[in-house]
Amino acid sequence: MRTQIGIIGAGPAGLLLAHLLRRTGIDCVILENRSRAEIEGTIRAGVLEHWVVELMNELGLGERMMREGRPDTGVTFQFLGQRHHLDFVELTGKQITVYAQHEVIKDLVAARLKAGGAIEFSVSETKLHDIDGDAPRITYRDAKGNPQELRCDFIAGCDGFHGPSRQAIPERARNEFVIDYPWGWLGILAEAPRSWHELIYSNHDRGFALLSTRSPEVQRIYIQCDPKDPIEAWPDDRIWAEMQARLAFPGWKLVEGPIFQKNIVALRSFVCETMQYGQLFLAGDAAHIVPPTGAKGLNLAAADVYFLARALEASYKKGDKSLLERYSETCLARIWKAERFSWYMTTMLHRNDAETAFERRIHLADLDYAVTSRAAATALAEVYVGLPIA
Ligand code: FAD
Ligand code: DHB
Repeated sequence: MRTQIGIIGAGPAGLLLAHLLRRTGIDCVILENRSRAEIEGTIRAGVLEHWVVELMNELGLGERMMREGRPDTGVTFQFLGQRHHLDFVELTGKQITVYAQHEVIKDLVAARLKAGGAIEFSVSETKLHDIDGDAPRITYRDAKGNPQELRCDFIAGCDGFHGPSRQAIPERARNEFVIDYPWGWLGILAEAPRSWHELIYSNHDRGFALLSTRSPEVQRIYIQCDPKDPIEAWPDDRIWAEMQARLAFPGWKLVEGPIFQKNIVALRSFVCETMQYGQLFLAGDAAHIVPPTGAKGLNLAAADVYFLARALEASYKKGDKSLLERYSETCLARIWKAERFSWYMTTMLHRNDAETAFERRIHLADLDYAVTSRAAATALAEVYVGLPIA
């Protein structure tokens, strides 16, 4: 099989790239090693930056998101028992939309298949070849186990942190930066009505908690835990007791309900420099990871493929390769700002048993600054809603 762009991975990065390329008439094939049901059922992020919402709408992919997603004008920070509203619209003129990643995936998959675009699900043994020549190839086994080869002009490595694309770049050409935090997030979905009108990020002596939502009937909540905790260490009554304690506020009570999904993720910051090698371009989690506290993971993946599609279009349509040559540099300028923000939000909001009393006071001062200074609040809000993409 032959195509122009061979895309490995049908996460937000790979799927959105396919839609962006389609708009410019560039042909691509997506190879995904999980089934459609698996990718559509994996529960992850929930916050879309304002420009991602605009882009989805521009691409004709936003109908359900606009109907079922919740536009939020700001967030609440809770610390020292007080709640403080940060008004993004007032500070930046922009809002965010709370719409689950797996719903985005469902919309992108359905639209691609409806338009006759290729996605090969349940492939295995994906391998990249000849990425430093001008005829790269991907070999794999299809869903039936038959060996296949995809020949292309460029490979987009959109295969997440554990995929093979990043590893295909020789080690001597990669410079990797990593922080593994001693914290995990226990995330749950519960059948319960909304308890607050917007997200609450809570800094508490017992550990961080985040109240989010999925619909008027389903709530998404995260609490800081030990990343090595087995899920059995968190029976439902322990989860509710911790959430009630960490989100406690006079005259307010978190409404409880049956928990129907729970999982624990470890928190990590990671960046791979470079994001390009020969004809291979990395995008999304394949190249970088942020701890989820700033809600940046999915949005950064979208920014990478926005830049990649633009660069591929300039190369194919005008023979101008300059944007492709600068792809890594362009993405990394945005990525490091998101890494900084995610690290800042994470260290400011989590309980850290290894830090000194002095450092703890610094984090509280940072929180206080963010909610009392218009300049500090604007700086936070500007990154949260999404830096300009141009
Ligand atoms: P992915 O979504 O990882 O997609 C990569 C795709 O490539 C996958 O479908 C995978 O199956 C496929 N693939 C992998 N290997 C191969 C192969 N060999 N061949 C073919 N296909 C392959 N961010 C937030 O902002 N908030 C959150 O609450 C949050 N929670 C998260 C929870 C978890 C468990 C994880 C892992 C991430 C979370 N994130 C969160 C981050 C966010 O979900 C990611 O940043 C986002 O999914 C990145 O999209 P992506 O397309 O780059 O990668
Ligand atoms: C959600 C996830 C995040 O990481 C975050 O910072 C805010 C909201 C969510 O899943 O709703």
